[in-house]
Amino acid sequence: MNMPRKPRFAELAERVAPEGTDPWVLHWEARQAAAAGQDVIVLSVGDPDLDTPAAVIDTAVERMRGGDTHYTETAGRPALRAAIAARHTARTGQSVTAENVIVLGGTQNGLFVASLCLAGPGDEVIALDPMYATYPATIKASGAKLVPVATPAERDFHTDLAAVEAAISPRTRAIFVATPNNPSGVVLTEEEVDGLAAIARRHGLWLVSDEVYAGIADGGRVPSLGARLPDQTLTVASLSKTHAMTGWRTGWIVGPVDFISRAHDLAQCMLYGLPGFVQEAALTALAMADECEGKVREYCRQRREVLYAGLQGIRGIRACWPQAGMFMLIDIRATGLGGEEFVHRLYRAEGVSLLDGAPFGAAAQGFVRACFATDEAVLVEATHRIRRFCETLP
Ligand SMILES: Cc1ncc(COP(=O)(O)O)c(C=O)c1O
Repeated sequence: MNMPRKPRFAELAERVAPEGTDPWVLHWEARQAAAAGQDVIVLSVGDPDLDTPAAVIDTAVERMRGGDTHYTETAGRPALRAAIAARHTARTGQSVTAENVIVLGGTQNGLFVASLCLAGPGDEVIALDPMYATYPATIKASGAKLVPVATPAERDFHTDLAAVEAAISPRTRAIFVATPNNPSGVVLTEEEVDGLAAIARRHGLWLVSDEVYAGIADGGRVPSLGARLPDQTLTVASLSKTHAMTGWRTGWIVGPVDFISRAHDLAQCMLYGLPGFVQEAALTALAMADECEGKVREYCRQRREVLYAGLQGIRGIRACWPQAGMFMLIDIRATGLGGEEFVHRLYRAEGVSLLDGAPFGAAAQGFVRACFATDEAVLVEATHRIRRFCETLP
């Protein structure tokens, strides 16, 4: 008699599985412990300790009660697409309209759509390393090979354009960057952006620019790849960080119309539109963008200083000043511990949850990442605990 055969999973399921130890396991353990009232400090995730603006919630509730709970246009409502386009133009100087915008479920969803629309099996995709920890799976989901290009600590995590060019092969389709970067907080300079645009133009490559933190960088803007190479750049962003709206899953891609049409086809069989009440709330949020971004920017600026100051003079570690964003890399190489061991031992000893840098790429190996988007007193206490922990190390 034939033994029943076990059904199998797709190769995709393997490609998106985390490599090595899942860095989020400790984070979720810490979150649960905090929720259960234990004395732990969670600095392992970039979710601002701020509330979504009340007007945004009011809009969502009113629209939900008013019956705005049905299907919507897959690419997003025209008014929201137009508002995103206007905000993008104001921020970057790139002239775009609603036709250049697709509304998606957060930056992460936008990165995934970009990945699937731009590359596939046999292709290669370059990403600047360190990179946000979801990038490897996001890129590999398409079947393409991820080619990391180090932006090493010795260059203060800035781009080596010659190394980018050297990594290009006939199979390269796209270059993924985040500016400001997570975890390093680096904002790509005018020269880096000019150089990357020139490389992409020369080799006929797509640029995917993750600008989820751009609105909270100094002055609310960063040098824009989209403004330099509009026909080959996809700018991905969301309301998550700028408006303390991580749970609303409201993001977008701004790009050339032919790309938006492809992304629409994919979204049609994948997301099928964001809820109408969420889109209307997003319109309210965008109308308050200056105010919201200014608030989060100032909030992050103050807390970055508190964390940086508190980490000075601790034996074996060195805080790296981030230009923008919500994260700080801490060089722990002189402690003799690896990142994973450091974060586990710190958590067990002092109840402070940080993330190992290694899952963000080889260039962040020997570093740990702390999120400073939280209460100042909590940050101060975290630095006391980190100091105490480091003093116990040989
Ligand atoms: C660089 C980067 N890109 C994308 C995301 C995901 O953002 P969203 O909530 O918009 O999906 C994050 C979240 O931390 C991030 O740091």
